Amino acid sequence: MSPTPVTTNLPTEPATYSWEATDEEVAARYGVPIERILRFDLNTSPTPPEIAGRILAGGAFDAPLSEYPPSDYRRLVETAARVYGVGVDELLVGAGADEILDLIGKAFLPPGGVAVIPAPTYAMYRVVTEQRGARSMLVPRLGPESGWALDDAAVRAAAATADVVWLCSPNNPTALAEPEGAIARVLAGVAEDAGAAGRAPATVVLDEAYAEFVDRSLVELRLDHSNLVVIRTASKAYGLAGLRVGFAIARPETIARIAPYRPPGSVSTVSVTVVTEALADPAGMRANVARVDAERDRLAEALRAAGWNVGPSVTNFLLVDLGTRERAATVATQLLRRGLVPRTFPSGHPLAHALRLTIRDRVGNDRLIAAARELGR
Ligand SMILES: Cc1ncc(COP(=O)(O)O)c(C=O)c1O
Repeated sequence: MSPTPVTTNLPTEPATYSWEATDEEVAARYGVPIERILRFDLNTSPTPPEIAGRILAGGAFDAPLSEYPPSDYRRLVETAARVYGVGVDELLVGAGADEILDLIGKAFLPPGGVAVIPAPTYAMYRVVTEQRGARSMLVPRLGPESGWALDDAAVRAAAATADVVWLCSPNNPTALAEPEGAIARVLAGVAEDAGAAGRAPATVVLDEAYAEFVDRSLVELRLDHSNLVVIRTASKAYGLAGLRVGFAIARPETIARIAPYRPPGSVSTVSVTVVTEALADPAGMRANVARVDAERDRLAEALRAAGWNVGPSVTNFLLVDLGTRERAATVATQLLRRGLVPRTFPSGHPLAHALRLTIRDRVGNDRLIAAARELGR
């Protein structure tokens, strides 16, 4: 007799992140000089803080570049812990927030496990979940009329059987923070339900990649919830995406569960040195946040005046609803012809009819405004 057939429901392709075309691809495809290409798709900053150039020119780093980075990233950990107001044993360094997401997946998502994802949100939560052989449970967010807020009752209910809940506030790509109290309510509900069921609560991840733009963090909630992991990054407000530095913040016992998965030296010595100094002297970050504050309303108003439906934003990007997927695709192509690269969403995505656009500097934003005026509604 043949052995009992086993059906495994593994996808043939791993879930993957998808990027927009590179500068070189856009230049070649649309005949735009490469120096005219401006990226509106990555939620980064037009320039790094001035301190980065100074340190690189000085050539003095935390360790000789012939050696590996300090194994405990000590100075960076101490500085980041001070800046975020947590203990050194409550923080773990990774190669960008993205590596932190991956480490969290390894620590808390067993193959066959379940992760709750209020959708739409940052694409990597689903990628990490499914690459672990776990299942994504997508819980639709309330609509744009409700600020794309998470449905906290539905998230709580889904979390009752989940291993991980991926939260993001302010949320990418919807550009708004969760309503006051919503995340605390989810955490309290998850704890209560787990207590009643006699099981460990799901790990609740709160990605605060854009926290500096609202000058608000919920990191203090870790004190009551050891299942909370908050994520921060040097990529957004600090303007240092190319250095790849991110942080997990949680109670020491939770950090201790993530730490075994940390690879040796994934963050370069150059990155460690520059981000340590940028955190210690946040003038560059503040100037960047001030630039975004100054440009956000101007850009949004000008795009609205051109007939585009621009949603509210508290972040360094805008979400533009173009009504239909076809219109979004047409506008994206027209922008690319002008060397402006928007973030698009694939068909089937709840935002397939929209584009996400990074707020750049005045000159860059003016190119986008001029394009919107030409394209109209
Ligand atoms: C919500 C969110 N989390 C994490 C990341 C990745 O950040 P990092 O550059 O630190 O890996 C991004 C990048 O766009 C993001 O939007």
